[in-house]
Amino acid sequence: MLNGKRILLIVAGGIAAFKSQEMIRLLRKRGASVRCVLTEAGARFVTPLSLQALTEDRVYSDMFSLTDESEMGHIQLSRDADLLVVAPATANLLARMAAGLADDLASTVLLATDKPVLAAPAMNVRMWTHAATTANVETLKKRGVAFVGPNDGVMACNEYGPGRMSEPEEIVAAIESLLAQDRPLAGRQALVTSGPTREAIDPVRYISNHSSGKQGHAIAAALARLGAEVTLVSGPVTVADPAGVKVLKIDSADEMLAACLQAGAVDVAVCAAAVADWKAAKPTLAKIKKKPGAAPPTLELAPNPDILATLSKPGSKRPKLVVGFAAETENLVANAIDKRKRKGCDWIVANDVSPATGTFGGERNTVHLVSAEGVEDWPTLAKDEVAERLVGRIADRLGRPRPAAAAE
Ligand code: C5P
Repeated sequence: MLNGKRILLIVAGGIAAFKSQEMIRLLRKRGASVRCVLTEAGARFVTPLSLQALTEDRVYSDMFSLTDESEMGHIQLSRDADLLVVAPATANLLARMAAGLADDLASTVLLATDKPVLAAPAMNVRMWTHAATTANVETLKKRGVAFVGPNDGVMACNEYGPGRMSEPEEIVAAIESLLAQDRPLAGRQALVTSGPTREAIDPVRYISNHSSGKQGHAIAAALARLGAEVTLVSGPVTVADPAGVKVLKIDSADEMLAACLQAGAVDVAVCAAAVADWKAAKPTLAKIKKKPGAAPPTLELAPNPDILATLSKPGSKRPKLVVGFAAETENLVANAIDKRKRKGCDWIVANDVSPATGTFGGERNTVHLVSAEGVEDWPTLAKDEVAERLVGRIADRLGRPRPAAAAE
């Protein structure tokens, strides 16, 4: 249900913080990734180490740590999330949110975010029913903050009444219903190729290229976030597998094609991989030896299968939408227009990969979207943003699947 969704969990200082750990487990089981911001008071109740182990990510707590700011500024923490969850949300943190304070990392992220926020309050009954808290909650609700709980019950302080944080299952259900509203690709199948391929010359050497897989992996992650069921066929890369995506790892173009065909019928295919155009015609089983005095061996090449062209072939199994990439160093748009026709795909995302642009392995990309309708020039964007925009377009094109009886 939460495949690919990214939750930024803010853990403030309350005894209920222990429940957040179970919540992380439940969220991850549903395919979401969770990143934690732990307040100073929160760290009195749970350790960064336990949150780190449960999220398999580092835990963010220090606003002024240079590493935090250079690796992951507070803006980036919010940008990388689909939803911010404050659990437990203490009376103090709710008051600071309502007042717009930014005096630690948690409150700063909450002030700087444009993403939806869900708060799970947890506090003593009299703190919850105090006029100040009531007013703060009203203010936050008016600003669009969603609330789950608190529940009635016996509290750690042995008092009875409202103030107990909702159970992890209840918070997860609230997260699911909040995020269900923006899943236009739910029920759609997607295939993405990403990364380079590696073509063996012998068991030791290979032909490959500089593709990092960042753009393709970002597209797979973005498709999953909008609800698509995604198969990512990836060449050898160092970027992590995106959450909530089925990853098939391959080396060569032949293996990539076989994995794509194995994925079966899909609604959309995005070929972002930098497939080697040629492979060694006769890869050897043993390492080619250097013979003293002998001339260097000649490497005979053979063409690789064109995966994009294969997937674009007309027929009942053809995806409704096939998107290719064109990495060019000159005549970018003209070549992309030509490539779209030659390969038979619907759209081409054209990007300039001349060394000066730093596209290969870099974080940003300047692309043009080439379709039958014409050419759109996009501004220079982070690869994640290119992915979001492209997947937004894919969602516009495919829309929601029709009910089973009327399915295409
Ligand atoms: O022909 P060229 O390599 O420039 O085409 C780039 C596009 O075609 C990309 O979308 C790439 O993933 C795809 N491609 C492919 N199989 C190949 C070569 C390229 O799917 N053998």
